[in-house]
Amino acid sequence: MRISSSFPGAMASPFTIHRLHMRGRSRLLKCLNTVETVFRRSVGTEPIVAQTEGVQDNDCGENDAPKSLYDLMAHRQEQAERSVLISCPSRTSEKKFLKFLSKHGDIKKHFFYESYGVYAVVEFGSRDNVVSLLDSAAIPIVSHDSTVPFKSRLLALRNHSSLDSASQPSSLPCQPQTTVPINELIQRLSREESIDEQISSLTEAYQLTEENSRLRFLVCSLLKDIAAAYFPECTIRPFGSSVNGFGKLGCDLDMFLDLDSISGWNLKRPKSGLSLEYQMKRTSSERHVTQSILSVIGECVDHFGPGCVGVQKILNARCPLVRFAHQPSGFQCDLTANNRVAMKSTELLYLYGELDPRVRSLVFTIRCWARAHSITSSIPGAWISNFSLTVMVLFFLQRRTPPIIPTLNQLRDLAGPEDESVIEGNDCTFVTDFSKIELQRNTDTLDQLLSDFFEFYATFPFSRMSINIRKGKEQNKPEVAPLHIQNPFETSLNVSKNVNTSQLDRFVALCQESAWLLQQSETRTPRGVGVGDTPAAWGLATLLLPSQVAGIKGRKKRKREPASERIKSLLESLKNKNEGKKSSDS
Ligand code: GTP
Ligand code: MG
Repeated sequence: MRISSSFPGAMASPFTIHRLHMRGRSRLLKCLNTVETVFRRSVGTEPIVAQTEGVQDNDCGENDAPKSLYDLMAHRQEQAERSVLISCPSRTSEKKFLKFLSKHGDIKKHFFYESYGVYAVVEFGSRDNVVSLLDSAAIPIVSHDSTVPFKSRLLALRNHSSLDSASQPSSLPCQPQTTVPINELIQRLSREESIDEQISSLTEAYQLTEENSRLRFLVCSLLKDIAAAYFPECTIRPFGSSVNGFGKLGCDLDMFLDLDSISGWNLKRPKSGLSLEYQMKRTSSERHVTQSILSVIGECVDHFGPGCVGVQKILNARCPLVRFAHQPSGFQCDLTANNRVAMKSTELLYLYGELDPRVRSLVFTIRCWARAHSITSSIPGAWISNFSLTVMVLFFLQRRTPPIIPTLNQLRDLAGPEDESVIEGNDCTFVTDFSKIELQRNTDTLDQLLSDFFEFYATFPFSRMSINIRKGKEQNKPEVAPLHIQNPFETSLNVSKNVNTSQLDRFVALCQESAWLLQQSETRTPRGVGVGDTPAAWGLATLLLPSQVAGIKGRKKRKREPASERIKSLLESLKNKNEGKKSSDS
């Protein structure tokens, strides 16, 4: 339950030398075309190839300019509600397909992709167009099985004229929905001419595309139709990396069933006279309510949700959830409820990513590096999570001189009354109007930041100190845990509580190795094309190759190797450097 209370007046932030990086802010302050651009950058860069010709989105005037992640999400949600997902035989003619569908109304956009067959996402001009389309669809006739007669916006195109279909070429223009394999990425990076360019190229290759982002909102919208059987006014919103700007193609789809949008929560009761309220079932705790709702929706998804498979109800977790695979989109989905703090973390990460383009690039690079060395994993365990890793990057950027991004406390001090938010007793207030944030001038290059990131964490006093982005300074560890990263909003919690000593040691050893590699002129020099037109790995590409450090197991059954001379000299040089620092400090 969300309880709001007031905070003392906002104090002037000490963070006041240079205006917010214009690229991020100005994008937020333009009309719909800009919204598209923002999403293209924050969740993807690929142009829409299979776009409906001659139709432009122009339904957003300057006054409707979206200003926050919530505005952008509202726009995407509305777009998703006018969209349908259609499985198409591969020999479908695109032209005939569009002609057939446009009987029901204007098609604003469409694209094709592959996931267990070819699918099309089609966005109509209005919801009435979708109703008309659905009215024309038939219930399938099956010979051996039975079907659950649940109608949804997930449809299948049937072609009844076989001659016609056979004459068509089989290639619908499909948009990629997965990242390039790591070996291909290494080659691509090795063709770049500077480490800065390599980092930008990696970001381009990995970030979510416009189409992938649309598909994520469409899946939320399809799921909402199922949940609406019980809660017609509910909303299902994506959160986490699907929308925080740090999502990689193929990342999971975290969803939040928002019941606070149900009208009546905030209705004022008259002080005298009569009023009505709903009779509702009472239960022992809010957690119990969340578990019951997710349990019922999980059953519905399992039994009636077209394309939803492998449904698992994980209701006893700290944050109860329903996990399943949505086959038509290929997304691994986690549905939660009553998870407002995670929504706030998403908004905060999005804001940091918008403040300076280096934030997003560095996060993408570190996430990719961590995945290449199995520091992170898609399987839950004692690994560092992507969320923790992102907070570590943010902390590092706050510790630069001058800092590249403000601390969370500084963002809180800039907040106005409209930003106030207290969730379950946790202060989640921070400024949401980007124009109030002023940044200091920092001209560090990405190349420099990457090297310094590794050095920073190669020598960080993890045994004593905690990482704290609220204060932007390391703090004494409040509890015994190998890695302590304070949860930005639930400040008594450690977001990396799961990480064990051996995983932290691997992270530190890899940071040491990468810091050392980036100091070597051999690593820093483009090598040119090697055998068979394959460029030899250099720079960032070298860091993605299997590690040489003793005891760091590689991606696939790599044997332990003895510590190489170069690593010994790295450790020696870092040690000397630290000692040098200490003596100059004293
Ligand atoms: P990937 O899915 O790995 O790409 O990144 P993600 O950022 O989406 O992480 P994940 O799916 O694990 O979690 C989704 C969101 O939940 C995160 O972005 C955070 O907002 C939030 N979250 C994840 N882990 C924690 C945690 O330990 N504490 C808190 N407070 N929030 C978390
Ligand atoms: Mg996620």
